[in-house]
Amino acid sequence: MAEFDFAGDTFDLTSPEDRRIVRFVLSQALFGEATGVYCGKSLYAAHNLEAARFYLRQARQELAHLELFADIFRDLELTPEPPHWVIRLMSAHNNYYPLKVFMEHAVGEGMVLDIFRDVLLKTLPDAHPKVADIKKKLVVVCREEEEHVAWGEKETRRLLAASPWLRHPFYGLLELQLSVAPMVAAAFARRAGDHRVMRHLPRFVEHVRKRVWAQGQALGFVPAERPALPYRVFAMSWGVLLFLRSQFARSTSTLEKTYRAELGFEA
Ligand SMILES: [Fe+2]
Ligand SMILES: [Fe+2]
Repeated sequence: MAEFDFAGDTFDLTSPEDRRIVRFVLSQALFGEATGVYCGKSLYAAHNLEAARFYLRQARQELAHLELFADIFRDLELTPEPPHWVIRLMSAHNNYYPLKVFMEHAVGEGMVLDIFRDVLLKTLPDAHPKVADIKKKLVVVCREEEEHVAWGEKETRRLLAASPWLRHPFYGLLELQLSVAPMVAAAFARRAGDHRVMRHLPRFVEHVRKRVWAQGQALGFVPAERPALPYRVFAMSWGVLLFLRSQFARSTSTLEKTYRAELGFEA
């Protein structure tokens, strides 16, 4: 999918108003990376050695991202603020593995990547002496986030093949997530008014919505045509129920039962 175009509009890091917005965006990123480190918790639920390897590697990468964003704050002489409640809600760990890989890795980190690659990399002004260095760091982060999304998509495909019924709650949750996004954008747009960069926000949200929709189609749970309202309500209700159920899920470990087979000692 084509990258989002901010028409060359960038933040002015000498303006207090722009610094306030950049600080807000970076603060959400910093919090997201801090919770990202806890993907290490998934190590306990890893169903095979490949998954265990992935979660170890991811936890190390997220910890590095956390420190990297802290460097960016220092480079720009900014201090982080507490996260927005939406970010807090969206980055809560889910112990139910199918929802975790779908909502956190495939969709969640996909949106994180949209913001890092399409917003931060495009709107930080190259004229600022530290920005070239910051962008180098962000490119590394983006490459690793791409790996996390790819893992989420691979696992989502595997789980959908094993349990085809998951396509209904997955679709419903996607509809719900996509219906919340424009509300969040509208709240920001009201605050940001006709700011040079922020005025692109409604178009950016639409861009993300289309990309996530196409991602759902590629993963096979979003139909070619948007289904009629009764199915959407049915899928959203199932999605909500599964999400509520997931809040009481407990991680179950398997590796201590499967390690001999995983290591090739048993069939
Ligand atoms: Fe990260
Ligand atoms: Fe990540």
